[in-house]
Amino acid sequence: MGKVGIVGVGNMGESILKALLKSRIKKDDLCFAEAKKEKALSIGKTYGIRQVKKIAELTKQSDLVVVAVKPQDASKILPDIASSMDDSKILVSIMAGITISNILSLSGRPLKIVRMMPNIAVKVNQGVIGIAAGTDVAGEDVARIKALFSCLGLTIELGEELMDAETSLGGSSPAFFLLFLEAMIDAGVKIGIPRDKSKAISMQVIKGTVAMLEEEQIHPALMREMITSPGGTTISGLAALEDRAFRGIVIEAIERACQRARELSL
Ligand SMILES: NC(=O)c1ccc[n+]([C@@H]2O[C@H](COP(=O)([O-])OP(=O)(O)OC[C@H]3O[C@@H](n4cnc5c(N)ncnc54)[C@H](OP(=O)(O)O)[C@@H]3O)[C@@H](O)[C@H]2O)c1
Repeated sequence: MGKVGIVGVGNMGESILKALLKSRIKKDDLCFAEAKKEKALSIGKTYGIRQVKKIAELTKQSDLVVVAVKPQDASKILPDIASSMDDSKILVSIMAGITISNILSLSGRPLKIVRMMPNIAVKVNQGVIGIAAGTDVAGEDVARIKALFSCLGLTIELGEELMDAETSLGGSSPAFFLLFLEAMIDAGVKIGIPRDKSKAISMQVIKGTVAMLEEEQIHPALMREMITSPGGTTISGLAALEDRAFRGIVIEAIERACQRARELSL
């Protein structure tokens, strides 16, 4: 994909930089800009990557400009970036809730834009990254960007109208899932298993379940049926979950998170 410049190397920007370095990208093909002096120094020192102080200089040196600042900084930074972009360059924004048309109007000129929505697990290169491309971006460029960022996890292309849905299903769901995991650990404790062992069992249950689904390429419902014997233990537990409309609660949680993502979009 050529050279990549990252604007803002906070939590997300640093994770992206780290993953790109672990993949095939060379140090010389990466540069960054960062407002916090100490953070910039430490990134330069830790990864041996060039810091570029002027945004226009970063844009000039990059084929792909990744904007990883907070959404509230968008209006300050986008005009600067846009003024030094040309048709050969693509702006990749990871700013939550800032749409492609927001970026275009804040930039004040036509630009090639790709929106990405990474979730927290990109920190361990097991994230989900929703990708929506502006109409000016060629299919082959989108494919190259998807391949480049696959070092962060699973890259999924969606229409931009689904980015809020992806923010909720991909971005917020880890929290919902963690609540379920915490409840499992507490349940283990309630039925007499020491907390550390309950945690180890619960985590392995999840890892093993996902590994089997992937290896055997089966639907979750089919795997669930495999362990639900007539009159057995599993069906008793499942009935308790269904009594409280477990699926309905999960669906509602994800739907509400999606509504909130829509409200928070500019
Ligand atoms: N964290 C997540 O899990 C997550 C998930 C999905 C999407 N995102 C999106 O990712 C973006 C970054 O989030 P984050 O959590 O990484 O934020 P962050 O830790 O605050 O990082 C942003 C960095 O950019 C710096 N910055 C601000 N203006 C700048 C400028 N003009 N030039 C260079 N650097 C500048 C900030 O410095 P100052 O603090 O001094 O301004 C800060 O160090 C956000 O837009 C967020 O919506 C985050």
